[in-house]
Amino acid sequence: MTEFITPIIVLSSISFFLSTLLVLADKFFADYGECRITITDEKEFTVRGGQTILSYFIANNINIPSSCGGKATCGYCKIKVLNDGGPILPTERPFLTREDKNIGIRLACQVKVKNDMEIHMPDFLETVKNIVKNRLYNPKLLWSFKIANQMYGNPEDRKTKKKDNSDDKAIIYAAIEEYKDSAGPLVPVLLNVNSTFNYLPKHCLGYISEELNIPLSLVSRVATFYNAFSFKPRGKNIIKVCMGTSCYVKGGKKILETLEEELGVKVGESTEDLKYTLETVNCIGCCGQSPVMSINDDIYGYLNHNMIYDILDRY
Ligand code: FES
Ligand code: FES
Repeated sequence: MTEFITPIIVLSSISFFLSTLLVLADKFFADYGECRITITDEKEFTVRGGQTILSYFIANNINIPSSCGGKATCGYCKIKVLNDGGPILPTERPFLTREDKNIGIRLACQVKVKNDMEIHMPDFLETVKNIVKNRLYNPKLLWSFKIANQMYGNPEDRKTKKKDNSDDKAIIYAAIEEYKDSAGPLVPVLLNVNSTFNYLPKHCLGYISEELNIPLSLVSRVATFYNAFSFKPRGKNIIKVCMGTSCYVKGGKKILETLEEELGVKVGESTEDLKYTLETVNCIGCCGQSPVMSINDDIYGYLNHNMIYDILDRY
C-alpha cells in the first residue's frame, strides 16, 4: 500500500509547490504593462496591470460596493466585464447566478487587469436590488441600505389598479364546460387550470366554486390535499431532483446544490423569469440510473454535477 501512497504524496507536493511558485511569480514578476480601463459612458484611465479591478477603482476614487475588503466573502463588488476578464475563479462562483455568468458579471475584487478592459458599472440601486434578489446581503458585514418605496411604485396607484381577470375567467369557463357533465368534475377542472397556469391562482378557486356550485371550502380542501396542485406560481420547466435513498447516496445532494447555485433559487422556488422551478421527489422509479432528475417529462440518469449546465441549456 505504501508503494502507492508515497508517489501520490510526492506528486501532490510537487504540483502544490509549482502552483504556489506560479502564483508568486505572477504576483511579483509578471509585467502586464500599461492597461487602459474604460468604464462605459463614465471614465477611462490607464494603470500598470497586475492588480485587481477593485484595487484600481479604490485608487482612482471610483465608488464600488464592498464590505469584505476584497476577500471574496461579501459578493457586493459585482461589475460587468465586457472583455478579457479571464475565466471565472472558484472564489467567485458562490456569488454568481447563472444569469450573472451569462451576461459577464464578475467580482471586481477577483478579476486581475492584464489587458485593456471595458467595464460596465451597475448603478448603486441595481447592485442593491441584485444583492437582495440573490440573498447575498449579510448584516454582519457592516453594510446597510434602505430600498426606496418608489422602486415598487406608488402604493396608492397599486390600490386603485384592479387586475383584469377576464382572460383567466375565459380559461376557467372553458375547462368547466369541458368537464361539467362528468361524474366528478372538480379534480379534472383543477388539473386543467393548474396545468394551464402552471399553478392554481387563488382567485380561480372562487370562480370554480361558483360555476360548479361546490362550496369554496371543499374546492380549497381538494386543492390543498393533492400535491399535484400548487398555489405558488411555478416555472415553465419543472425540475425534480430525486432525493430517494439510492439517488441520495450516489450524489443527489450535490446535484441539488449545483442546481440551486446555478439557478439562484432554493428547493420549492422558481427563478424570477419563471423559466424553472426546483423541486425534490422521493423516487422517480429509475433507481438503477441514480442519481436521477427529471425536467418536465424528460428523465436524466447517471448524473454528475458537471452535466447540469449542458442539460439546463436545452430548456
Ligand atoms: S469586495 Fe467583497 S466580494 Fe469583492
Ligand atoms: S431513489 Fe432516485 S429514482 Fe429511485
